[in-house]
Amino acid sequence: MIRVNPHHAALPARYLFAEVADRVRAFRRRRPEVELISLGIGDVTEPLPPACIRAFHAGVDELAAAASFRGYGPEQGYDFLREAIARHDFQARGVHVDADEVFVSDGSKCDIGNFQELFATDIRVAIPDPVYPVYVDTNLMAGRVSAGKGNHRGGLVDLPCPAANGYAPQLPQEPVDLIYLCSPNNPTGATMTRPQLQQWVEYARAQRALILFDAAYEAFIRDDALPHSIYEIPGARELAVEFRSYSKTAGFTGVRCAYTVVPRDCGAWQDDGTRVSLHGLWNRRQSTKFNGVSYPVQRAAEAIYTPQGRQQVRALADGYLANARIIREGITSLGLRCAGGDNSPYVWIDAGRDSWEFFGLLLEQAGVVCTPGAGFGPGGRGHVRISAFNQRARVELAMQRIAHVLG
Ligand code: MLT
Repeated sequence: MIRVNPHHAALPARYLFAEVADRVRAFRRRRPEVELISLGIGDVTEPLPPACIRAFHAGVDELAAAASFRGYGPEQGYDFLREAIARHDFQARGVHVDADEVFVSDGSKCDIGNFQELFATDIRVAIPDPVYPVYVDTNLMAGRVSAGKGNHRGGLVDLPCPAANGYAPQLPQEPVDLIYLCSPNNPTGATMTRPQLQQWVEYARAQRALILFDAAYEAFIRDDALPHSIYEIPGARELAVEFRSYSKTAGFTGVRCAYTVVPRDCGAWQDDGTRVSLHGLWNRRQSTKFNGVSYPVQRAAEAIYTPQGRQQVRALADGYLANARIIREGITSLGLRCAGGDNSPYVWIDAGRDSWEFFGLLLEQAGVVCTPGAGFGPGGRGHVRISAFNQRARVELAMQRIAHVLG
């Protein structure tokens, strides 16, 4: 008899963004005349940078000629892209990352969701609350739930991120083995400072724990005092894996390309007390289960690192950050408290009421889609996230409509 993975029963019925999409679809059926503005899921609206388009086309043309045709590519990514990443994203900032420590992939969601497979089921996992729901859901799917824990976050250890702490996660009260950090944070926009990150690195070293550092929104950091990579903190190479994405940075949500850094010094322990390289384990896992990213897509990603590409990508992020400023100012002028939007494309709003109710209010009365904070964990209750990913005129119109409803 075929039996299902019983751990799926611990999951919330629907993935957050699928639930939001369902509610939006139902609204559209009821009120087809309303022209909705989406500031919900963080999906980009601006076209790909011209430098990427050119390289993408050239990559396709190479596949059209027998002399330059390529079949299966390396699962870890082509050297040209791994080298460009190591050089521009890390070495140029004085950070030690070698090209062969970079694993190119089709998205950070997949990499972060998959990485936990390398660890024992009974490890203790600490996850900020609120945070991107993929961390919790994938650990629940893997069966990391203590018996008797009724809430949907199961047996995982919550790291509260209270407003009083600038929405940054606080160290756990109990020992943990695996720690998820997200900076700039999705959804709160909080970006960890150097002392804060240092504290986590020291904590992980003392606990012999591992940090999974999600830096998917790194390109939005504008404050020079803030670290862009966890490897800027001495000692982090031994205990941290970092995830980066081109989705929001370069408009690649439809193209799909990201990467994960697994330093060679980074390890975890076996039952017999020996330390194993996570680089080797991840390489083994990816070679078996992942097909790699297509050649033209990797050429398009490489073009981000050309002088024109860098300028164009910077301008894209600046445009979204300008939207975030408009959202922030609009929300503040309505007397609501908010955070984020300065080094991140998300504005986190204290709605002063149930987050799904506030979501419903903006949907029904303003025709604006946001994301209810409760979907990011219990700590997100009473908040909503407004995303800056839309065209300027749409963001301005959305804020006018919101002001009209709430003002
Ligand atoms: C979000 O809106 O949080 C993101 O778009 C989700 C993702 O990148 O998977």
